[in-house]
Amino acid sequence: MEQQQKTGKNGKILRHLMTPLDFSVDELNKLFDLAEDIKNNPDKYAEVCKRKKLATCFYEPSTRTRLSFETAMLNLGGQVIGFSDAKSSSASKGESVSDTIRVISCFADICAMRHPKEGAPMVAAERSRIPVINAGDGGHQHPTQTLTDMMTIRSLKGKLSGFTIGICGDLKFGRTVHSLVNAMLRYPDNKYIFISPEELRIPSYLREKLNEMHVEFEEVERLEESLPKLDLLYMTRVQRERFFNEEDYVRLKDFYVLNKEKMALAGPDMLVLHPLPRVNEISVDVDDDPRAVYFEQVQFGVYVRMALIMTLLGLAE
Ligand code: CP
Repeated sequence: MEQQQKTGKNGKILRHLMTPLDFSVDELNKLFDLAEDIKNNPDKYAEVCKRKKLATCFYEPSTRTRLSFETAMLNLGGQVIGFSDAKSSSASKGESVSDTIRVISCFADICAMRHPKEGAPMVAAERSRIPVINAGDGGHQHPTQTLTDMMTIRSLKGKLSGFTIGICGDLKFGRTVHSLVNAMLRYPDNKYIFISPEELRIPSYLREKLNEMHVEFEEVERLEESLPKLDLLYMTRVQRERFFNEEDYVRLKDFYVLNKEKMALAGPDMLVLHPLPRVNEISVDVDDDPRAVYFEQVQFGVYVRMALIMTLLGLAE
């Protein structure tokens, strides 16, 4: 997004996060360094956001993202307001996101917004006097999940390049996939294996971008054959809420199930990530495998959101 040099209500330059590309690689590295420091020295940050308020405006269901943002702000000594259901907000009476954010700007210092409509957080950002964070917009982007995924990889593998990355499941509607690939494309020497049924392949704009950048990638249907080649496996759920008919969803929902037998085909250092929630695509018998890091990933999400809140409020220096 074109970041305009507007000043926010705190008198500082107003910055939003709509996609991971809103941060340069250098800024991302600083953010991850800060998140690591928060992880190692939480007490140092316990009052950084004293008297600051985060508004969580969630027009679509969430467990991790909303509660992770709220935990992040509470860990920083701040406070939280918000709604978790459009029906309990004045959106149910027809209020626009533009009007809502102008109102929220009077109450809070920063806002995390999830919306089923693609671009809705960006519309809000244009009218906002406080930083707006896209907490997931339709099938489009989920930048803070990507920050979480990248911090997990960086912390556990020590780098963000030089990997063969398998991304499996619903690559068409999965917003976490679109955000992650866009962000990881800025790190060199990664190869991608996109594993999906024909109907759920990556969007054509992403395929074109990969081709333009001469990035090595394959699109395949079978998970088993790819597993031995992978350093990272990013599993995703089939996005029921984005399907136009239930019949297609039912046909595709259990296309992939990663289980103990399939994990035996993978190398000893391959990490399994998943943005969660999981439905059936990872069997619970994988959870105790040390390569399964999807619950650890959730914890990294709190640290990186703490670092993000501090950064957007101008409190990171
Ligand atoms: N990963 C993620 O976005 O989970 P929630 O939908 O529970 O927020």
